[in-house]
Amino acid sequence: MDDHAPSLGTPLGPAAGETHAIPLAVLAELTHRCPLQCPYCSNPVALDPSSRELTTKEWLRVIDELAEIGVLQIHFSGGEPAARKDLEQLVARANQVGLYTNLITSAVMLTRPRLQALADAGLNHVQISFQGAEPGIADRVGGYKGGHARKLEVAAWVRELDLPLTVNAVMHRQNLDQLPAMIDMAVKLGAGRIEVANVQYYGWALKNRRALMPTPEQVDDCLRVVEEARERLHGVLEIDHVLPDYYADRPKACMGGWARQFFNISPQGKVLPCHAAETITTLNFESVRGNRSIAEIWHGSEAMNAFRGTGWMQEPCRSCAHKDEDFGGCRCQAFALTGDAHATDPACAFSPLHAELFTVAATEAAEEADRFTYRNFSGGTVEKDGA
Ligand code: FES
Repeated sequence: MDDHAPSLGTPLGPAAGETHAIPLAVLAELTHRCPLQCPYCSNPVALDPSSRELTTKEWLRVIDELAEIGVLQIHFSGGEPAARKDLEQLVARANQVGLYTNLITSAVMLTRPRLQALADAGLNHVQISFQGAEPGIADRVGGYKGGHARKLEVAAWVRELDLPLTVNAVMHRQNLDQLPAMIDMAVKLGAGRIEVANVQYYGWALKNRRALMPTPEQVDDCLRVVEEARERLHGVLEIDHVLPDYYADRPKACMGGWARQFFNISPQGKVLPCHAAETITTLNFESVRGNRSIAEIWHGSEAMNAFRGTGWMQEPCRSCAHKDEDFGGCRCQAFALTGDAHATDPACAFSPLHAELFTVAATEAAEEADRFTYRNFSGGTVEKDGA
């Protein structure tokens, strides 16, 4: 899933104890193509080329299969899902087979007629990513001139069509000062929810960590702003908040635990336990193009079972009192920072690397290096001076 949503914030969740049941919500990453070039994109650095993407026929089969095995919600994402000409067809099929449909989009490719066609196809919900509260920073972060104005226009159309709207606000050192304005913007746009997601550092964001890492003071301010807004806007705007865990003591229960309540399907059909899983290069993920059904892959594939539950853990995780709450944190972050996906997530205070992580974060934040490496298919392009 692009820059849009580290957390899905799904309205439905699996019942406690059904840790291996088929998830109720699935993220369908239709493509890695995207007109935006956000430097924190959660897609892998090695993007899937369009020639490898699942065909319309393959996605239709996947959607049917998802409904058959008990999935209830499908989140169409990317890259930019609107880059697929068959998006309306896929939404219509999902609607026909009874799936709740959500579109996670940068919005810049959507026209009014196209949005109308998606609504007619049965689209249930739209999430639009915003890179800032005003065009200066927003267009610079996305590497797309005119993008912010376009997003505002599309958000208004979403509400005109009476579709529920969520604003995705991905926050980092260079836009955190705009958080109060982004919350106000979400209210003005008629959004029912805003996801305030601090950047998580793997893939593209790890490449850009120096330009994105907030200061400890910014993180404190962010918490204060979110708490104040939650109180003030109770009943008006729901505010989800993903903390930057470099400054936390406890790691987040990433994805609610590895292969426990979520999977996504990559543009070329790999079934993944999280959007960043392919950054763990020691694992092989099975594809919907193979011989096994999605249910068989979910239950039985080696990669899905690699970090399920707590049996895979080493010390200090194995004997930790919190292991059934945080499930060892984020495996992608552990691999990115230690080279070992079994290692304790360095975001955890019990990791031998935790203190170092905090120091690195605070040091990088203080350096104020602000040039981005933009996400693209050629491995990234460094922002020009004065861009
Ligand atoms: Fe993959 Fe956290 S993003 S486990």
